[in-house]
Amino acid sequence: MSDHWIKSGWRTKPRVQMPEYPDAQALGAAEAQLSKYPPLVFAGEARALKARLGEAAAGRAFLLQGGDCAESFAEFNADIIRDTFKVLLQMAIVLTFGAKVPVIKVGRMAGQFAKPRSAPTEVVGGQELPSYRGDIVNGFDFTAEARAPDPSRMLQAYTQAAASLNLLRAFSKGGFADIHRVHNWTLGFASGGNAERYRALSDRIADALEFMTAAGISSETAPAISEVDFYTSHEALLLEYEEALCRIDTTTGLPVAGSGHMLWIGDRTRQPDGAHVEFCSGVQNPIGLKCGPTLNAEDLKRLIARLNPANEAGRLTLIARFGAGKASEHLPRLIRAVQEEGAKVLWVCDPMHGNTIKSASGYKTRPFERVLQEVRDFFAVHKSEGTIPGGVHFEMTGKDVTECTGGLRAVTDEDLSDRYHTACDPRLNASQSLELAFLVSEELSDRRADLKRRAL
Ligand code: PEP
Ligand code: CO
Repeated sequence: MSDHWIKSGWRTKPRVQMPEYPDAQALGAAEAQLSKYPPLVFAGEARALKARLGEAAAGRAFLLQGGDCAESFAEFNADIIRDTFKVLLQMAIVLTFGAKVPVIKVGRMAGQFAKPRSAPTEVVGGQELPSYRGDIVNGFDFTAEARAPDPSRMLQAYTQAAASLNLLRAFSKGGFADIHRVHNWTLGFASGGNAERYRALSDRIADALEFMTAAGISSETAPAISEVDFYTSHEALLLEYEEALCRIDTTTGLPVAGSGHMLWIGDRTRQPDGAHVEFCSGVQNPIGLKCGPTLNAEDLKRLIARLNPANEAGRLTLIARFGAGKASEHLPRLIRAVQEEGAKVLWVCDPMHGNTIKSASGYKTRPFERVLQEVRDFFAVHKSEGTIPGGVHFEMTGKDVTECTGGLRAVTDEDLSDRYHTACDPRLNASQSLELAFLVSEELSDRRADLKRRAL
């Protein structure tokens, strides 16, 4: 961070993907209100997450990040939060077993409301209106009224984020997350139909848990097995919201984003001299940076210098999202740029955003096989470059939606219309998410052997 950083400094930089609020007074009032509200997270938690991500960068932990593409005001209730949290925990156990290192659990939750769009306006039946930019900005309905950016939506987003985080904290520490209980749900999944392939692995985990109990490790003797640390993250896109929740951490005297533990910069807003990079450069939180096919080595070096000048472990996570079959074309040049700078970064794979296609039935979808392929490509490239594949980033939900095709309980093109509920991009459903975790766990067993060979 430069000595001169101020939380409103982004306002003097070129900005993209942000709404033009028609009513400046209403905007000012919402910002003033929000800046009086308590932060949603404590700076010490963001620092703790950063330390853990630093461990992941060194191969001693692994990041699992997942949740909705866009949280919505309409789809907001306890069951939805619980089910996504539950699947993330199930996935984390399966991944931990493969990796044999702690899995850091981060939800795209409690703040993931703002969306970048490919076009600023949308035309339907000859009528042109502003694009939907997420519930924190405007409404989904195709009417002039709904599509007008409304700053009071920021207050509703804050309230929803606070209530979501409250429940997540209760689930994390209140007994819901007990490892035995969570794995029992997975045993149910792996015993059905074609899941044979996954049964052997989940049985081995069950054996390990029984052994632990027999050896006297229970929730009474080791409370850690009935609790988890769970963190939140979102794209820091709507900078008025981020600025209003930015606070000074009284422990360090440094600014921290109070809107979530980890923030990321999207592939469309990562201009090194732009507003989003400026804002993120000054807050202490761990920062993610989406890296798509158009990112060149030179810009990546500039971004590393802007976002992590002190080369602090865990500060910067690079989230690769190229598309199946494309990692070997793009990832090596970026890995080498990082190495030339001697930069400490955590490499994570987002196999969702490069694999969105339009199905024959007209829905935006992602084939499970392509998602899996990109994860495998990512592990393979890191293996051949001698670097560390440190995490995965999924768009997923605990609900039984039909948005991505494929998987064990195969969703077909024709099924997509059954339960297509996303407010933005297609998500993996609960079964597809857990299945992917089993498959990533196999990659992680291989990673473990590879890191051992390299004595890391
Ligand atoms: C997202 O994560 O929902 C997103 C928009 O990603 P990207 O910036 O990588 O396109
Ligand atoms: Co998305």
